[in-house]
Amino acid sequence: MFRITTVVENTSASKPGFRAEHGLSVLVETEKEKFFFDTGQSDVFIHNARLLNIDLTKIKKVVLSHGHYDHGGGLKYLLDYTKPVVYAHPEVFRERYSKLSDTGKLRYIGIEKREFYEEKGVKFVLDDKPMEVSKNVYTTGFEEMVTDFEEVDKNFVYNKNGVYEKDDVPDDMSLILDTKRGLFIVFGCAHRGIINIIKQAEKTFNKRVFGFIGGTHLGPASDYQRKMVIEELKKMDLEIIGPSHCTGLKMTAELYCIFKDKVIFNNVGTVLEV
Ligand SMILES: [Fe+2]
Ligand SMILES: [Fe+2]
Repeated sequence: MFRITTVVENTSASKPGFRAEHGLSVLVETEKEKFFFDTGQSDVFIHNARLLNIDLTKIKKVVLSHGHYDHGGGLKYLLDYTKPVVYAHPEVFRERYSKLSDTGKLRYIGIEKREFYEEKGVKFVLDDKPMEVSKNVYTTGFEEMVTDFEEVDKNFVYNKNGVYEKDDVPDDMSLILDTKRGLFIVFGCAHRGIINIIKQAEKTFNKRVFGFIGGTHLGPASDYQRKMVIEELKKMDLEIIGPSHCTGLKMTAELYCIFKDKVIFNNVGTVLEV
């Protein structure tokens, strides 16, 4: 049994004092330990964690889904309480930008440099292969793109030796919880496509995925991609669909209209047991 608590998300449950921001952080509790998957973009992460009575000094591990500010930005604030081991993909420190659609200007959307964190006592475990983070908890490792309707956001670029190249976010990783019911996935942003990730998890573990929560990046995706993802989800017979963060309210509403009570609205303060 795993307990998953959403600590940072774009919207908040109606408990007094919670703060919301564009970003994601969830606390995963196993029988033996607690760790974070992502850290939101700011100290909102710390504020909400304290309201949720999470003892930050006891956190020994953090998994970063990818190197975007809205997932890794809160990590530096956690270092006042603990010096965790951080699990991520080797490309997590790319100097990356998003092209603003109106002006074409670049906006920095990466995280701090590796040295910044290491000087403060963080230890990184970087691997593009699946990593066992805790008992029955794994990272996906590098996510292959196999569907023909999912694509990485076209506005992303990164600085590769002084030249800006398209950023396919190869560091995007999701978290897989191997439960008695089957596999449960927590997405960060799912930049490489939720259907790709679900299919890869089922192939790697030879087990059925029964649910997910997290960012799907379907908010900024094309109408075609959204339509095709919905068609694929219909074939999958998932029991829990928890679209969050970069799914956006419009796409979340659309999913609710189709999948009804299988959909959970995953906000700051939402607790789920799987
Ligand atoms: Fe995100
Ligand atoms: Fe992202």
